[in-house]
Amino acid sequence: MTLILGIESSCDETAAAVVIDGRTMRSNVVASQIELHRQYGGVFPEMASRQHVLAILPVMQQALADAEVVWADLDAIAVTRGPGLAGSLLVGVNAAKAAAWMQGLPLLGINHLEGHIYANWVEAEGNLPDKQFPVLVLIVSGGHTELILMLGHGSYRRLGGTLDDAAGEAFDKVARVLGLGYPGGPAIEQAGRSGDAAAYPLPRAWLSGSHDFSFSGLKTAALRAVQKLEGAGNDEERRLTPGAHLPPAQIADLAASFEEAVVDVLVTKTIAAAKATEANEICVCGGVAANARLRHHFQQRSPLPVATPPLYLCTDNAVMIAAAGYYRRLHGEHSNLQLDVKPHLPLVLAQEA
Ligand code: KG4
Ligand code: ZN
Repeated sequence: MTLILGIESSCDETAAAVVIDGRTMRSNVVASQIELHRQYGGVFPEMASRQHVLAILPVMQQALADAEVVWADLDAIAVTRGPGLAGSLLVGVNAAKAAAWMQGLPLLGINHLEGHIYANWVEAEGNLPDKQFPVLVLIVSGGHTELILMLGHGSYRRLGGTLDDAAGEAFDKVARVLGLGYPGGPAIEQAGRSGDAAAYPLPRAWLSGSHDFSFSGLKTAALRAVQKLEGAGNDEERRLTPGAHLPPAQIADLAASFEEAVVDVLVTKTIAAAKATEANEICVCGGVAANARLRHHFQQRSPLPVATPPLYLCTDNAVMIAAAGYYRRLHGEHSNLQLDVKPHLPLVLAQEA
């Protein structure tokens, strides 16, 4: 039995978790900074690092206590080294290095995107069936939208990704334009529940012949629709409080129409990529994978089995980092105390693609 402590601090969640054999979750502690950043309408990097410094040790201790283990029970520490905010990553990496040195434990530096993928391998009971490679992976988070063909553990081929905004970023920006606040994904999902998804025919960028995505045109079209509904005039108040002048029914229709357009493109292109690569199954992961409309459309439209993590493992957490660490360790990998953060770390290095 291999017990790994995972640590995650790449953005605005300070998280630690204990996972057995990469498959069974023993604890999952997440200190969210959402309330702190809400007043700025997005993540304020300097505030995020300071908050990580305050939270990291209590969160690590809580993860051990919840799992009912002590340091001596652990086999390794896995920590996110990138991609993410440099100042935020540094807090987790330094805490992991200090603990690994003090406790004499092996250290594993983990790619945050690989972590998101492994959220599909782990759950409370550890009973998920083995996946049949190749698996087509769609990563949809606040910073990334990527289509990856996973050939085996730790073996990835990048098929395509967004040319401009990530899907989560588009949700966050359109939520701001609709006056729905931060984080935008859950706010749009909630607002759109009572809306008509066919009310506004918003554009879909198909980029046919490629596995790439583009969401900036859709985002601009949503902004234009709001401006048109709000009527003429570009006064300061309208600029500062967008969407505030629209009746809730129009906001609901716009939110549903926008969500439908994003989901339509994500689902259609992922299924096409899975067919083109003869993948056996599809795994969806990242914060946007929590979206009910996305999950529903995948289940309705995909001819292949589609796995999505439980909702609490879609957004950032350390369970997924510990799970990814297990498979890295299984392949004999480990990092040393020179481990450094890599804010722009890609999942697939250019020479491997
Ligand atoms: O994976 P994540 O927690 O952080 C990154 O690695 O970026 O993803 C956060 C993103 C945010 O853009 C947030 O708006 C989006 O995931 N998100 C959602 C939902 N929950 C979170 N988007 C759509 N629907 C949701 N239910
Ligand atoms: Zn993430």
